[in-house]
Amino acid sequence: MPLHLQDLAIPILGAPMAGGPSTPALAAAVSDAGGLGFVAAGYLTADKFAEVIAGTRALTSAPIGVNLFVPQPSAANADELERYRDRLAPLADHYGAEIARPHPDDDAWQSKIDVVADTAPEVASFTFGCPTPEIIARLRDRGVLVAVTVTSPDEAAAAVAAGADALVVQGPEAGGHRGTFDPVVRPGDEPLDSLLSAIVAAHDVPVIAAGGLSSAADVRRVLHGGAVAAQAGTAFLLAEEAGTNAVHRGALTDRNFTETVVTRAFSGRYARGLANDFTARYDDVAPLGYPDVNQMTGPLRRAAVAAGDPHGTNLWAGTAWREISGGSAADIVAALAEGTR
Ligand SMILES: Cc1cc2nc3c(=O)[nH]c(=O)nc-3n(C[C@H](O)[C@H](O)[C@H](O)COP(=O)(O)O)c2cc1C
Repeated sequence: MPLHLQDLAIPILGAPMAGGPSTPALAAAVSDAGGLGFVAAGYLTADKFAEVIAGTRALTSAPIGVNLFVPQPSAANADELERYRDRLAPLADHYGAEIARPHPDDDAWQSKIDVVADTAPEVASFTFGCPTPEIIARLRDRGVLVAVTVTSPDEAAAAVAAGADALVVQGPEAGGHRGTFDPVVRPGDEPLDSLLSAIVAAHDVPVIAAGGLSSAADVRRVLHGGAVAAQAGTAFLLAEEAGTNAVHRGALTDRNFTETVVTRAFSGRYARGLANDFTARYDDVAPLGYPDVNQMTGPLRRAAVAAGDPHGTNLWAGTAWREISGGSAADIVAALAEGTR
């Protein structure tokens, strides 16, 4: 029997956060606390993904979720990438890093779908697009509940038509990448609450709300607005169990960082993070083109982190980043869920 999101003891999902913050310990702790923790497959090899699922299962007997990036043809234009390379060169020199050559990469899509079918986590969520009806049916046959991240009513309709069991409605307040299906469309800025009410009114499937949720009052508001659960990412970035790197952690509590911006400068896809020197210098001139731009800037961003410099790397954060604090994931889940059941 697939999991019923309505039956979770606590209506809190710990958002998948690829690129470091998601760890087996974080996912297991959120699930053990009565919520639902996620394994993030993005950027991992399929073997590593399987290993992380096994590692998470070893830590908890509660339900877990996994999350995959849906691959799309890159929107990159070779001339624009070359121009961006030239612009990045001084920063690469500064960090003694190379600018990597972009190459086609579908994030091991088929192999990761096989891993999900083999390991049958209770939930699989997707971002950057919608899996085909065949893939959704295959996973559902294995007892996996399939959730698709959507950022607009049109995407919600497409996901429901493809057979999604649940929707993750991601508002513009969200930290990290927007899940927008079409990577060349600038994601919408309709606030989460109105997006949520439009989508809840239009579809019968359970809806999870995400974006800027950092307090119990936020969670109660989206539940009142028709969501079955709230998915929080930024709220867990400082958790003890999170793999958030030290530079990112430091910036999240540094009062010198005063705002978040939606930028394609780091990855070629729109994502929200703290405004820093990198976004100030490159946001206007960066081309679209994921994963190409992500690959190009990768060594440079890693070198900045190694140098302890928050101004040369992405510092993903949602609009509510000021409200977050550290502590155990269980305490963060309990604080978010206060008064919800
Ligand atoms: C550091 C970071 C990494 C993220 N990585 C993923 C990911 O791998 N897959 C995904 O579906 N969403 C990812 N997201 C987006 C979250 O699923 C969610 O939409 C977002 O965190 C909600 O907004 P909030 O950060 O304000 O809570 C990421 C968010 C952050 C902050």
